[in-house]
Amino acid sequence: MPVSRSRGLFDAGDPVTLDEVFPAAPAGFVTSLCRVWLGPGTTVLIDAAFDESQVSDPLFERFGVGRPDGFHRWVPRRRAEYLAGRIAAGAALASLGEALHDVPPDADRVPVWPGGIHGSISHSRRHAACVLSRGYPVIGVDIEDIVQGDSLSAILETAMTAPERGLITAEGRPDPRLATLVFSAKEAVYKALFPHVRTFFGFEALRLEQAPLAGTLRLRLQTTLSPEFAAGTIFEPDWRATSERVLTWLALAPDIGAGNAPA
Ligand SMILES: CC(C)(COP(=O)(O)OP(=O)(O)OC[C@H]1O[C@@H](n2cnc3c(N)ncnc32)[C@H](O)[C@@H]1OP(=O)(O)O)[C@@H](O)C(=O)NCCC(=O)NCCS
Repeated sequence: MPVSRSRGLFDAGDPVTLDEVFPAAPAGFVTSLCRVWLGPGTTVLIDAAFDESQVSDPLFERFGVGRPDGFHRWVPRRRAEYLAGRIAAGAALASLGEALHDVPPDADRVPVWPGGIHGSISHSRRHAACVLSRGYPVIGVDIEDIVQGDSLSAILETAMTAPERGLITAEGRPDPRLATLVFSAKEAVYKALFPHVRTFFGFEALRLEQAPLAGTLRLRLQTTLSPEFAAGTIFEPDWRATSERVLTWLALAPDIGAGNAPA
């Protein structure tokens, strides 16, 4: 099927054909697949656009995606986002030279990857993303459509403190894109850390240290979660943003207490 670039998120992306990964897969549900290497040969990001209206149960078989517990209760949107996330995961696994493999959720909803592989999945209404790595076990990704209106008020209230809101305010008003970016970055770090610490922590556990458009998005851990992740640890998730959406990710080696995506 024809594929396109990832709607401006990356200047350089590597279009992937669905047929490369899923021979004879039907067109229609996934409308584009884009691959970006974050670490040559070792760490990959797949960004997939999908059309929720095209989801159907037989597609799960066609893409080799298992149906997790509770599937029969899911509304079409949830089925579509789950399937799109697993298709992105399949494309990421194939990119790393792995065989196609179902990626079921564990009891905490964390995806269960084949041995030696670490990864993370996110989805929004029309996109799904997967980051996958051999060398970076602390790995998380998040995508969000730019938040507006009541949803913007909600994330400003629940995900940020007053000083953090000050860092994303321009001309007296919180910038929706920066607010979405900070929210997304906290979610990406949560998803990277949770599989290692296996404990819930709230947005207040990560504090924004400086205005994100200064180039670096820096979050400081406010509480000790484990010996590896002590209070004071700094995380610098990488990010891309367009006028419509943001994508953030974090990929760390085990011995790195702070840092960014692999070079
Ligand atoms: C896990 C969570 C961050 C997911 O975020 P979301 O915006 O709902 O959804 P996303 O599409 O970005 O990500 C969902 C995917 O993350 C993965 N995921 C779910 N729970 C996870 C966890 N505890 N750890 C790692 N990954 C997880 C799954 O792959 C899931 O998709 P799937 O169910 O289709 O497999 C969120 O639902 C949550 O549990 N939040 C509570 C904790 C929190 O927000 N703390 C503050 C952050 S600092």
